[in-house]
Amino acid sequence: MFDFDELVPRNTPEDIKYEKLEGINDLIPMWVADMDFRCPEEVSNALAEQSRRGIFGYSEADKTYDDAVVNWFKKRYNWDVDPKTCLKLPSVILALSLSIRALTKPDDSILIMEPLYGAISRTVKMTGRRLVVSELELKGSRYEIVFDDMEKKIRENNVRMFVLCNPHNPAGRVWSRDELTRMGDICLRNNVLIVSDEIHADFIFSGHEHIPIASLSNEINKITVTCTSPTKTFNLAGIQAANIFVADDSMRRKIDLLSVATGAFGLNVMGIVATRAAYTYGEEWVNELITYLEGNATLVRSRLEGTKLKMIDIEGTYLIWIDASKVTDEDPTAFFLKNAHVRFSEGLFFGKSGEHFFRMNIACPRSMLNEALDRILEVPGVR
Ligand SMILES: Cc1ncc(COP(=O)(O)O)c(C=O)c1O
Repeated sequence: MFDFDELVPRNTPEDIKYEKLEGINDLIPMWVADMDFRCPEEVSNALAEQSRRGIFGYSEADKTYDDAVVNWFKKRYNWDVDPKTCLKLPSVILALSLSIRALTKPDDSILIMEPLYGAISRTVKMTGRRLVVSELELKGSRYEIVFDDMEKKIRENNVRMFVLCNPHNPAGRVWSRDELTRMGDICLRNNVLIVSDEIHADFIFSGHEHIPIASLSNEINKITVTCTSPTKTFNLAGIQAANIFVADDSMRRKIDLLSVATGAFGLNVMGIVATRAAYTYGEEWVNELITYLEGNATLVRSRLEGTKLKMIDIEGTYLIWIDASKVTDEDPTAFFLKNAHVRFSEGLFFGKSGEHFFRMNIACPRSMLNEALDRILEVPGVR
């Protein structure tokens, strides 16, 4: 049994989530996507051991690292990955940026589905590519893909790359085999490459299954860059490590060459040590964590029921997307920061359709979640 109820102090000056805001002494931060839980003990022990040795020289992931990674994907998703196809990079967003620049041309169009984690659209735009958005459709409290619109936008804009997010942040969807197959087929039919951001893949709630899109078929595998990372799963975001699988040799070589040209490649020694320990020893911890997060999601659902805040269904991730349009015309994040001293992620960061929404990070001890809910439910207009 792991103690996810423990309130772990996070008051170091470099901690982004707990950044002090002027005039607020009792802030509850539920915004940036890291967790308030300690990582598995085996991971901190491995890091401590490395640290005690006092050697932090140039390092490279070896076979023990590859074995830990390969076993994780096999065990969790029955996905066979070949370590030779894996590029080790400091972050998923770097991998996205390199993939865009290596595999598309300036002015090419790239499709995403919004609402979507804003660093993705920002990266597309900052690499000088044209951003094409197919909006997800909210049906009741569940987001769905509009396949006709996806294909129409791809054809009309001569789209060359599709950035998929699975599970989807912030829509909370774990895309089904059928949905993934349809997206994959559209990309194959229209010569569109896929970058699949699967950083949240380990947070899958009961009744759902994570399917790496590259695992669907050989054809889809050959057009896909799959971005994975242990940093969300094990709360290691500050360590920065990602494993990027690219089955096609030519695509992989292009991304690899650009990463070398950029000077941003490989993992730092702590990233190697932490990833290997996490994927080797972390499974039981993750399983219990998911149960705890599901409990938190259930709590939010029951406490928001009958209020004017509308919670969108969550099938995976620890990020809940909430519609506040019946509560305030203001930006809901500013509204709740001012009135409840709870900090959420701004809806507009996820695209225009996020204007009246906010994103709540529920990866925190339940007592903290309850305190935040107490506060927001007391804000006039919410009930
Ligand atoms: C969907 C998604 N992709 C990527 C990232 C960032 O990953 P990295 O820190 O490896 O760039 C996040 C972080 O919240 C995310 O939610």
